[in-house]
Amino acid sequence: MRSLSGIQPSGALHIGNYFGAIKQYISLQDQHEGYYFIANYHALTSIRDAATLRENCVALAMDFLALGLDPKRSTLFLQSDVPEVCELTWLLSTVTPMGLLERCHAYKEKVAEGIPADHGLFAYPVLMAADILIYGSDVVPVGQDQKQHVEVTRDIAIKFNNTYGEVLKLPDPLILPEVAVVPGIDGRKMSKSYGNAILIFEEPAEIKSKVMRVKTDSTPVEDAKDPEACHVFALYRLFASEEQREEMAERYRRGGVGYGEVKKQVVALMTEYFAEARARRAELAETPDYVMDVLRAGGRTARAEAQATVARAREAVGAP
Ligand code: ADP
Ligand code: TRP
Repeated sequence: MRSLSGIQPSGALHIGNYFGAIKQYISLQDQHEGYYFIANYHALTSIRDAATLRENCVALAMDFLALGLDPKRSTLFLQSDVPEVCELTWLLSTVTPMGLLERCHAYKEKVAEGIPADHGLFAYPVLMAADILIYGSDVVPVGQDQKQHVEVTRDIAIKFNNTYGEVLKLPDPLILPEVAVVPGIDGRKMSKSYGNAILIFEEPAEIKSKVMRVKTDSTPVEDAKDPEACHVFALYRLFASEEQREEMAERYRRGGVGYGEVKKQVVALMTEYFAEARARRAELAETPDYVMDVLRAGGRTARAEAQATVARAREAVGAP
């Protein structure tokens, strides 16, 4: 069973990305043959600075490896190391109805906001379909926000197969279990674009300062509180053991717990939770050549698969 997913190199990872996505990708490598790639071509729809894009890609690869992606078990690579993806994108484009893409949310939202969209953004789901179909992926683990794109991928594959014969394998989305949305320091959803994110690998002093700023209400220490309504508790539960979580929830309900104390515990638990990954991340930062080697080796494995699929697709359309 092959599972494939891609993530855009759009900036440093925050703890919402980790608990909402990365953690699940990494644990899937125990059951599936994992293909994970850095979607740098997709990122061109938002990043238009070469140095930033390059740096983000290497940093994201380091993050993945530090957080436990094992290049011996999974294939980690750069989207752009498999140029055949662009070739398949074209073949798929020719069977993709305009209406299908007009309904896709990334494009629709931009247009609704009155932001001029480019063809890259419009055609983004076709590139994503090529990413998935080119490796004969069985399952595609994604967050709820990407489900539509996997459905579009299936529609495009069906169109292609109906036109040219059974060339492409239909993938299934594997929707990650709905992880409660991780709140940012202002209480809204944690997101790079809101400037409210706590980054996994930022300086410990910065992490501490951000956690101490997490928004709370003004309930006095001695009063009973609802743990489910507290952003600090929402962070605490991510890092705490089940026992710690239950005990803390009980203390909230009883009264007598102060937010400052819980925040300090969040910092301590988070530091411990990522300690090993942080040490590995620091080592990887010293060996960028190793990281590039991992990406290039992954790219070669992925490309061999891709070439075989594209050869079949070209044969099928009559472009031998
Ligand atoms: P951002 O909103 O920071 O730009 P992305 O859209 O790049 O994040 O998110 C990549 C994946 O990380 C999403 O598909 C989602 O599964 C997960 N994710 C992002 N933010 C959160 C959050 N606050 N809580 C839970 N999961 C999140
Ligand atoms: N569009 C995805 C996102 O923004 C990234 C992505 C590109 C992807 N190609 C993919 C995800 C293929 C899964 C499979 O998060």
